[in-house]
Amino acid sequence: MAGNKKVFIIYYSMYGHVQALARAAKEGIDSVEGMEGVLYQVAETLPVEVLGKMHAPPKPVDVPIIDPHIINQADAFMFGFPTRFGLMCAQMKAFFDATGSHWQNGALVGKPAGLFTSVATQGGGIETTIMTAVTQLAHHGMIFVPPGYSFGAAMFDTNTVKGGAPWGASTLAGADGSRQPSEIELAFATHQGKQLAQVTKKLTA
Ligand SMILES: Cc1cc2nc3c(=O)[nH]c(=O)nc-3n(C[C@H](O)[C@H](O)[C@H](O)COP(=O)(O)O)c2cc1C
Repeated sequence: MAGNKKVFIIYYSMYGHVQALARAAKEGIDSVEGMEGVLYQVAETLPVEVLGKMHAPPKPVDVPIIDPHIINQADAFMFGFPTRFGLMCAQMKAFFDATGSHWQNGALVGKPAGLFTSVATQGGGIETTIMTAVTQLAHHGMIFVPPGYSFGAAMFDTNTVKGGAPWGASTLAGADGSRQPSEIELAFATHQGKQLAQVTKKLTA
């Protein structure tokens, strides 16, 4: 809606796990009055033949591909990406590598940003993937807004296999990608979106 502050949720998802978290985060952002989450995918960089060999399903048609030139229009960001050997996937890095003009102009300085990810297995790189991505925010002068332990009691439950860290929302896809984000992981992403929207609202008031 016109007049709302915009949080761009910019993500890459090969098999849909990060995408599910992105949609859940949007719910949280939209629940804050005057705030709106806008979903964008980053451009694919792999050839169709390679995607076929990786059994990647088609990308959703309802989420536009982000044009890096327009991201200065956002009031805040959430960036989501699956891990690749403990770091953000190359598609997401290619997007960040196309934001040099904003860096040159200081266009993103002071904008709040949250990060979220998906891994296959426990210990697969939730913390390293998000922590290393903070470099992208730092160089742009963005303000990293981690959820910390604000999600509450569920973060202290060690009986359930689940993602969700002080660094940001996450899910475990399983070694073959068959595990889907659980209710608690989606709720975490919604919580993170809401928290980021609340912080953004205060900062931009
Ligand atoms: C080249 C490659 C490297 C990967 N490296 C890791 C890894 O280091 N740790 C891990 O837990 N999962 C790893 N994965 C699994 C992905 O993170 C998993 O497919 C992804 O989280 C699913 O998210 P998506 O459905 O949004 O694409 C890797 C996958 C690929 C293709």
